[in-house]
Amino acid sequence: MITTQSIAEIRAQVKAWHQQGETVAFVPTMGNLHLGHITLVKEAKLRADHVVASIFVNPMQFGQNEDLDSYPRTLADDQAALVAAGAELLFTPTPDIIYPKGMDAQTFVEVPAISDELCGASRPGHFRGVATIVCKLFNIVQPDIAVFGQKDFQQLLVIRTMVEDLSMPIEIVGVDTIREASGLAMSSRNGYLTAEQKQQAAQIKRSLDAMAASLKAGGNIDAVIEQAQNELSQAGFKHDYLDVRSAKTFAIANSTDKELVILVAAYMGTTRLIDNILVSI
Ligand code: PAJ
Repeated sequence: MITTQSIAEIRAQVKAWHQQGETVAFVPTMGNLHLGHITLVKEAKLRADHVVASIFVNPMQFGQNEDLDSYPRTLADDQAALVAAGAELLFTPTPDIIYPKGMDAQTFVEVPAISDELCGASRPGHFRGVATIVCKLFNIVQPDIAVFGQKDFQQLLVIRTMVEDLSMPIEIVGVDTIREASGLAMSSRNGYLTAEQKQQAAQIKRSLDAMAASLKAGGNIDAVIEQAQNELSQAGFKHDYLDVRSAKTFAIANSTDKELVILVAAYMGTTRLIDNILVSI
């Protein structure tokens, strides 16, 4: 696998593959890779001739009091895992390479409406940072396919909307959330948790499953949310949001919706965790 910080080198390699009639799938990440990321790389490998990954802890998507500086950086381990999963090219730019004019002096990509709710409400500017970096990375790599995790459901929706609205010729593939045996969704931020907090955090998936079962049984949405909120606070979580949305439109769910997504964000200590599950009624 070639690791490079050079935009020109990425472009030249991808162009050479395309000239040979070969396809390219892309997996953007912020590194500190776990089985969730690696599953995306393996899915990419199944769908294209070549896999390009990126590792870039994108300052534009972090708020002022967030964990940009402490975000785990584990390049050597990440490279080994990517090689084993079949990636051939890894882009590891610095902020100066990506934002040579500085972050405030450049063009943004904004996906309105969805970007201001839930994670967007808790993290103002977050999805603008995500859409801008993913757009830039797409323009640098020029993949045929890009693979993202369903774990970040709202992010996936922002990216699908951007690609559709801006007519980007890229197929977006979503991959199911990969979990620990306890049900806890894998996340680079799980590393901030103590062993005890990790155990408590497994309550998220138990509550999501219980909510899904209650909704399938015809339970009232507000009552189901309240019950789960109580469970999560008893497990030691501080509430950020817990909501049931239409999986199709992302509008607040009503009793006629058949395809739902339950989304949650909550703090365990200072660590913010997110998760979601899809429910078909
Ligand atoms: P990061 O958090 O590193 O995640 C990279 C990709 O891995 C995302 O598509 C995310 O949804 C996926 N992922 C993370 N945990 C997962 C899990 N447990 N199961 C399945 N997929 C999982 O998301 C980002 O980086 C950034 O916002 C990025 C898109 C790279 C833009 O900076």
